[in-house]
Amino acid sequence: MSILVTGGAGYIGSHTVDQLIEQNEKVVVVDNLSTGHKAAVNEKATFYEGDTRDEAFMDSVFKNESITGVIHVAAFSIVPESMKNPLKYFDNNTVGFVKLLESMNKNNVRNLVFSSTAAVYGEPRQIPIKESDPKVPTNPYGESKLLMEKIVRWANEAYGIKFVALRYFNVAGAKPDGSIGEDHNPETHLLPIILQVAKGERKKLQIFGDDYLTEDGTNVRDYVHVMDVAQAHILAIKYLANGGMSDAFNLGSATGFSNKQLVEAAREVTGTEIPAEMAPRRPGDPSTLIAASEKARTELGWDPQFDDIKKTIETAWAWTQSHPNGYEE
Ligand code: UFG
Repeated sequence: MSILVTGGAGYIGSHTVDQLIEQNEKVVVVDNLSTGHKAAVNEKATFYEGDTRDEAFMDSVFKNESITGVIHVAAFSIVPESMKNPLKYFDNNTVGFVKLLESMNKNNVRNLVFSSTAAVYGEPRQIPIKESDPKVPTNPYGESKLLMEKIVRWANEAYGIKFVALRYFNVAGAKPDGSIGEDHNPETHLLPIILQVAKGERKKLQIFGDDYLTEDGTNVRDYVHVMDVAQAHILAIKYLANGGMSDAFNLGSATGFSNKQLVEAAREVTGTEIPAEMAPRRPGDPSTLIAASEKARTELGWDPQFDDIKKTIETAWAWTQSHPNGYEE
């Protein structure tokens, strides 16, 4: 009896695989390595290189392994890239998801946990954002995930595929022992870029927009630790195995940090200057995203361990210092 993790070589997938293995679960990983890293995958997992859109390949994985549930985190997730190339996102994320659902149905696998995103909400009407709030994405990435949430409801209805959609806010940090962490090329996310500046790999940070309706004018985001996000996937797959109902849950810390505040916190953690300058707004960015995360706590039993942004930054800093070139040695 194994759990299949698609995208298990990526940032969130690799931490989820690692925790599953630590809990003595059998894990099968499918990853096309387009953005993931083979070295990020715990050696005790069975690894298949391939694409979830390749039906024959997925059939062979389902036939070779006794898969009881799927954690689907394989996706593209870069907001600005999706603004420039929306069809890339609808193809890989949404069409790829339809293919995965077809394979699951054909092979009688009916429990699915998948990554959704805070980007499904768009510009929120109220803070903190509740799961039931309106969903009006401001970028194709969020739209590609909202479509997935809509599609899976009908797959549930017709084929009995039960699902948990996890709407992540801004995932950050690394496994505290520094063995796995975040490694994107090119890097577009705020915290890893801040740390590249701290290390001297980039001259300065550009902060995109200081004229938003927030306290200091810069965007506000809710940072949630990757270890806590991994924990939520495992709780969610167990919740489904125990008969839990299909549902969507926010994963956030319920605390917002502005881009300027994040830089300040990183200056304190790293003891470096981190030069920063203001730059124009980045298209597609909502001004403030803060999660209400009570539902995941009460219904999944989610118990986040990292509630201090500085501790989260410390783990990311430890990873980046011990792996100056990421997974490339
Ligand atoms: N930012 C900068 N300078 C940079 C990079 C980012 O100012 O060099 C700003 C962005 O404009 C934004 C904030 O930092 O205001 C966070 O940007 P990220 O790119 O780190 O993250 P996003 O909020 O755009 O998106 C992330 C994930 C999405 C997820 C979203 C949910 O990448 O997958 O969080 O909140 F949907």
